[in-house]
Amino acid sequence: MRFPPGFTWGAATAAFQIEGATTEDGRGPSIWDTFATRPGAVLGGDTGDPACDHYHRYASDVELMASLGLGSYRFSLAWPRIQPQGSGPVEPRGLAFYDRLVDELLGRGIQPVVTLYHWDLPQALEDRGGWRDRDTAHRFADYAALAHAHLGDRVREWTTLNEPWCSAFLGYASGVHAPGVVDPKGSLEAAHHLLLGHGLALRAMRAQAPADHRFSIVLNFCAALAEDEEAARKVDGLQNRLFLDPLAGRGYPEDVLADTAWLGDWAAAVRPGDLDVIATPVDWMGVNYYSPTRVASAADPSVVAEGPWPGLRGVEFLPPRGEVTGFGWEVRASSFTALLERLGRDVAVPLVITENGSAFPDRVVDGEVVDEQRTRYLVDHLRAVHAALEAGVDVRGYFAWSLLDNFEWAAGYSQRFGIVHVDYGTQVRTVKGSGRALARVIGANAVPA
Ligand code: NOJ
Repeated sequence: MRFPPGFTWGAATAAFQIEGATTEDGRGPSIWDTFATRPGAVLGGDTGDPACDHYHRYASDVELMASLGLGSYRFSLAWPRIQPQGSGPVEPRGLAFYDRLVDELLGRGIQPVVTLYHWDLPQALEDRGGWRDRDTAHRFADYAALAHAHLGDRVREWTTLNEPWCSAFLGYASGVHAPGVVDPKGSLEAAHHLLLGHGLALRAMRAQAPADHRFSIVLNFCAALAEDEEAARKVDGLQNRLFLDPLAGRGYPEDVLADTAWLGDWAAAVRPGDLDVIATPVDWMGVNYYSPTRVASAADPSVVAEGPWPGLRGVEFLPPRGEVTGFGWEVRASSFTALLERLGRDVAVPLVITENGSAFPDRVVDGEVVDEQRTRYLVDHLRAVHAALEAGVDVRGYFAWSLLDNFEWAAGYSQRFGIVHVDYGTQVRTVKGSGRALARVIGANAVPA
């Protein structure tokens, strides 16, 4: 099963999940530093230190990427390293770290793909309301413009936000992610301000970018396996169309506005001109996919869903079926193909798989990690991407999540998603069987049929 010539192969990480060194070189605190100290917030009381100590080990980590044959590497910049207070003075030592990383990557022929925001909001901005405050969108655009101005002579591929659904609804609706707030109406306002920040950042960067720079946003789509159309419509509305529609210039979906209106008029946060800003065209769209979501209409239509679903009523979430990962997530590659085919119809720009992967409890035995389940997951999901390509979907690249085992947010270090194992005690890296499998796929530009 060959992939098109020039198909991009890579692996992905995020700053807070791998860097460690959270107080070094002038870095300011982020909402995740604060959240991790809240008792019970993160499993095992784990924090962002030392994570994978990548801040100090970036050079050998880049060497590892080269040994796997990665053509691209998707990573995020830590806003609080670059602007410790989220606005105002820039910390040159923070920028210097990303200079070193980018130079190391380019020196090994690996293309950097930079995510500007992967969830580590400067705490100083949260203290002023965070994403529930409209001003954060403007602060994000300022930060994006200055980071792009600094690295844009070497970095061509830019992503504004990673999974704004998570930032808004895990952060401000269920509160299981930082900043750990439970405010359903505010979470919808946060979603709007995230999208506004995306559009403002995009405009600011485009205004100063050469023509070959490419801009994107990364979304986590709900691949719903629904027992009835009404349940499918509702979850698809809140997770997919709430983001896709305004990005495509269609504004917020009427049915979602109607379904969520009982929380209060969150859409009053939408000011004249905002929807035009949000609809600023992207060059490609990032797709993160892990698992399907099983839903059905609840027997009682007035029952309010718990968790990251603001305003959702009358929907029941069903347990996974069949094989699950170590994290308990259903393994179903066919849902990936179905999602890509749907996006192929609904999204006007090329797609890039910016994350896909699975967590299993690995062990190093005699210097080896034999991760058969993850390897099977990888190969099956690459076949699913190939099937979408065959069906005519314009997919340009695939990034495995993740290069390294890392800090899995509220699950701390308990879930290992890496294609490279990290021993957190010694910081020794061991390429897993899945990492070698990906290297073979990259070498052949094909996945075994
Ligand atoms: C999505 C997020 O972008 C990433 O940070 C996270 O580790 C993976 N999914 C796995 O949950």
